[in-house]
Amino acid sequence: MMLKETYKLSNGIEIPKLGLGTWMIDNDDVAKAVVDAVEIGYRHIDTAQAYQNESGVGEGIRTCGVDREDLFITTKLAAEVKSYDEAVSAIDQSLETMGLDYVDMMIIHSPQPWKDFGGEDRYFEGNREAWKALEEAYQAGKIRAIGLSNFQKEDVENILSACIVKPMVNQILAHISNTPFELIQYTQEQDILVEAYSPIAHGELLKNEKVVDLAEKYGVSVPQLSIRYVLQLGLLPLPKTANPEHMKNNADVDFTISDEDMDFLKNIETIKDYGEASVMPVFGGKL
Ligand SMILES: NC(=O)c1ccc[n+]([C@@H]2O[C@H](COP(=O)([O-])OP(=O)(O)OC[C@H]3O[C@@H](n4cnc5c(N)ncnc54)[C@H](OP(=O)(O)O)[C@@H]3O)[C@@H](O)[C@H]2O)c1
Repeated sequence: MMLKETYKLSNGIEIPKLGLGTWMIDNDDVAKAVVDAVEIGYRHIDTAQAYQNESGVGEGIRTCGVDREDLFITTKLAAEVKSYDEAVSAIDQSLETMGLDYVDMMIIHSPQPWKDFGGEDRYFEGNREAWKALEEAYQAGKIRAIGLSNFQKEDVENILSACIVKPMVNQILAHISNTPFELIQYTQEQDILVEAYSPIAHGELLKNEKVVDLAEKYGVSVPQLSIRYVLQLGLLPLPKTANPEHMKNNADVDFTISDEDMDFLKNIETIKDYGEASVMPVFGGKL
């Protein structure tokens, strides 16, 4: 059962292999989504300060009926926070907003503020300051693991060159038709777990005929094939849905994609755009 499996982070903490993404689930709806997911067996929830649903996620965690220590909650330090003082207060604000004594993991949402995403300024100093605040919160027991998101190789190197505590994850865009193999290999070689966000390409893979055909061959849905693909690369998938049927479907991935079909999926033509979501910086848009 995939929902019971875990990866071990470099500090020895276990993290459930499949997490529920909550981007674009309204704060008013997300507590129910968390409760439904936990009832189905999910133990890992991914939110962010930027999603503006941390309070609803916290409510779901507090009311779901499963012991807090059996759940793994990740939130993200806002991409715009690039100074030590701002990071210290933003970390405490997340705990307060969620109504939790600790979070399992907090990660820097992006090396650059969204308005500069993908630009030349890598904010090296600001990221080291934000990292220092995360390290201190980690050492104070407010956070059980700390990490990165959207960090390219040079951004990871910047943290590794200055850190006391090494990052435990890097959460990046990774799915069939857009898998950054070099960055994945580099990151994994540093003993940093790679989390795959938008594993279904924000829904766009449902429209890819080659993927639809292969899913049919395995008798699974496109989301199941997409989730299984990233798992077989050693990544941690974070599919988003508030629909309990989809939650169940996405967790039912105990099948194996053959080596030959993995090669086929690795070489599928790169996605051209992300439809309406193309305006988002993570999908190539500019704010
Ligand atoms: N760190 C970052 O910068 C970053 C950026 C993007 C995303 N993320 C994280 O990754 C998570 C997932 O990414 P995402 O939200 O972009 O998209 P995604 O998980 O790749 O795709 C979500 C889409 O797939 C649909 N879907 C999910 N399961 C399905 C199923 N079994 N059958 C049919 N349709 C299904 C959803 O529809 P329904 O909602 O109708 O089920 C939704 O339209 C986010 O929620 C967030 O936690 C992080």
